[in-house]
Amino acid sequence: MPIDHGLPWGRRCVEALVVGTTYHRGEFVDDADAQLSIRSKAVNYGLGCFGGIRAYWNDAKQELFVFRLSDHIERLFESALILGLEPPISENEAAEAVVELLRRNEAKSDQYVRPLLYVDSDELSPTLTDVPVALSIYAQPLGKYFGQESLHACVSSWRRVADNAIPARAKPTAAYLNSALARAEARRNGFDEAIFLTDDGDVSEGSAAHLFLVRRGELVSPPSTADNLEGITRRSLIELARSEPLGWTVVERTISRTELYAADEVFLCGTAAELTPVTRIDHRAVNGAKIGEWTTALGARFHDVAVGKADGWTHWRTPVWA
Ligand SMILES: Cc1ncc(COP(=O)(O)O)c(C=O)c1O
Repeated sequence: MPIDHGLPWGRRCVEALVVGTTYHRGEFVDDADAQLSIRSKAVNYGLGCFGGIRAYWNDAKQELFVFRLSDHIERLFESALILGLEPPISENEAAEAVVELLRRNEAKSDQYVRPLLYVDSDELSPTLTDVPVALSIYAQPLGKYFGQESLHACVSSWRRVADNAIPARAKPTAAYLNSALARAEARRNGFDEAIFLTDDGDVSEGSAAHLFLVRRGELVSPPSTADNLEGITRRSLIELARSEPLGWTVVERTISRTELYAADEVFLCGTAAELTPVTRIDHRAVNGAKIGEWTTALGARFHDVAVGKADGWTHWRTPVWA
């Protein structure tokens, strides 16, 4: 029987790819020339790790701001360290390559940048030792990641990959089979997104986004030890929520599945996902299936800071055109 693939997810969440320039093995080349062999270990075994970075266009300032560039590059290099891969260039050089790539693509709209560090070998076996490592980086325009304002999520029957099976704290390419399986199951069953539990049954994260809930006047999120990625948006939201003008109480602690159903508000967050409200979980309404006040306030604050509308937080924004 043919598999029902559900809605055309990829088409809804990724805007049209624009032909431009890609950074590939130390050079800026035409997109079409950034190629890997079908024999590549990166293709066959997913041997590599990657990042996902957003840059926001500020029309009033005629500036493109890369959000937390050095933190994203630092995490990419940490992922490489965890996998035992030696990047071919330094963190500073990688950050410079991202900015240069956006300039070469004459980027003057919201962008998504994908640096990919991978085992650049066409030899047969799945090895991480004594292998050449390459870095490629592409960029593309990206608006909203999810096709709808708020999501109906389900708790996935797939467990989040455990950190000591495939490092969940890092962003290894191979771990995204776990994300893709959960997302496919959710969509085939009519949901918009999946929420992973850990092997112990605690809430971990979404398929490629972190989770927050609001309960009894506190913002709550599972810790990074719950087999989720060390998230940059999550970290940013915690800082923004705790600081003025919001000044909220934020708690990082284990979350049980049933707290999802009892929560006052739930949202997912991530570089691509930004801050996306979840208004139904497993057919139960959250906050009467309406987007909540905390979600709206934190989403607006995050957007203003990332785009460069809010004062301060300049260390989070790298201007491309200045
Ligand atoms: C598995 C996973 N969790 C969470 C996130 C969100 O992390 P960040 O805010 O650093 O983009 C991502 C996206 O990169 C992800 O792939």
